[in-house]
Amino acid sequence: MAAGPSPAAPAYVQSPVAPFLASLSVDRALARYDLAGSVAHAEMLGGVGLLTPTETARLVGGLRRIAQEVADGRFRWREELEDVHTNVEVRLTELVGPVGGKLHTARSRNDQVALDERLYLRAAVASLAHPLLDLQSSLLDRAAALRETPMPGYTHLQRAQPVTVGHLLLAHFWRFDRDLDRLFATATRADVSPLGAGALAGSTLGIDPAAVARTLAFDRPFENSLDAVSDRDFLAELVFDLALLAVHASALGEEIVLFASKEFGFLERTPALGSGSSLMPQKRNPDAAELVRGKAGRVVGDLVALLTMLKGLPLAYDRDLQEDKAPAADALATVTAVVEVLGPLVSALVFVPARLEAAAADPELLATDVAEQLVRAGTPFREAHEAVGAHLRAHDGAFAAAELAALPGGSAETARTLDPRTAVARRASPGGPAPAAVARQLDSARARLSGRRASLSSLDRKVALVEDLLKEERT
Ligand code: ARG
Repeated sequence: MAAGPSPAAPAYVQSPVAPFLASLSVDRALARYDLAGSVAHAEMLGGVGLLTPTETARLVGGLRRIAQEVADGRFRWREELEDVHTNVEVRLTELVGPVGGKLHTARSRNDQVALDERLYLRAAVASLAHPLLDLQSSLLDRAAALRETPMPGYTHLQRAQPVTVGHLLLAHFWRFDRDLDRLFATATRADVSPLGAGALAGSTLGIDPAAVARTLAFDRPFENSLDAVSDRDFLAELVFDLALLAVHASALGEEIVLFASKEFGFLERTPALGSGSSLMPQKRNPDAAELVRGKAGRVVGDLVALLTMLKGLPLAYDRDLQEDKAPAADALATVTAVVEVLGPLVSALVFVPARLEAAAADPELLATDVAEQLVRAGTPFREAHEAVGAHLRAHDGAFAAAELAALPGGSAETARTLDPRTAVARRASPGGPAPAAVARQLDSARARLSGRRASLSSLDRKVALVEDLLKEERT
């Protein structure tokens, strides 16, 4: 095709401050959603008789050609056209002629961008859910394999009571499970089509917002046009969900960093963890886990930027809202990278069982167990607590097995408590770290994972349905 002169920019985007107003650099990522939304809008206009069948077909055909151009990287983006919406409309008119000017009937960029963003959110949740489920699978597999390996459990980062590596890894699993739950719930709440709200007050033309909602597989159309064009709750929720996910990832990153230090020595410092030092020949640093930890700050910053921008905006649309895209996109890209690196990282962790066992054999970890043993013999817990504390202080943090029988309620049995594997096996209360309890936990984690995979497939189908609108052959 010969590239003729570009059509002039419409008057509404011409301004001395045009470069400052432009949003193309961030919103061109919305092109597919914008195009799919336009296909649905054109079909609705056809359905209510505002376009003839021929006009509808021309518009839809042109939009699909543009989708192809965008996908192939052939689309010529024009910065002076301000945003993705006007870029598409101008190109459409270039392709199909003056009928292209009918696409924007009963539509504003205000309801259009809100629609694009809701479709973006749906696809974003689906695309992040895949690597997140993979990360959860990695945690689950490692937890199953390390179900019986004892290690110290910590409070205040001080050795507290024995747990197993499997139990610790599953604690991270459940955090991520809630993150995924929140993301799905966010997608469900966002499942409302704002198209038909117009600039702020709907339209005098006989449009059918419910038809657009159906075509795009939304649960329902908006209830209030002012709310529809100004609501960015869904993006704030998305970025919050991402920020909390990043915070959870940072805690896992921190534990990897700690456990890979020589002080802990629970993890081997393998090349999978990161790179070396340009100066110190001996170094092998846990850089990946450190960056996972560090990137949380940036995502929290995205959330603060977004909420601060939204604060105090009068109804309905305000141009401030254009600043919603960069934080959302940054948070999504950052968290996706974090999750994608963490899954393989967790799979590649090399635990050092000897170090874990040795640390778990610290007698102080069993202080509570000894006290509880005394409680079984009828000693009040407070008295047992005092007696065991005094015993440990007197023996430099160790137990003198021969003297345990002399504690209040003590017997020959008491000394048998002093084995980390036995101690951990006894903690079989529901949700506890005993291998038997962890086996039950693994079962519910597996069941949860397959439930989540099923929810994700239905979300994936909705995402695919929107993609189908952009294909020539529709069934
Ligand atoms: N780029 C704008 C945004 O992201 C699109 C809506 C523009 N609306 C307007 N009235 N100028 O919010």
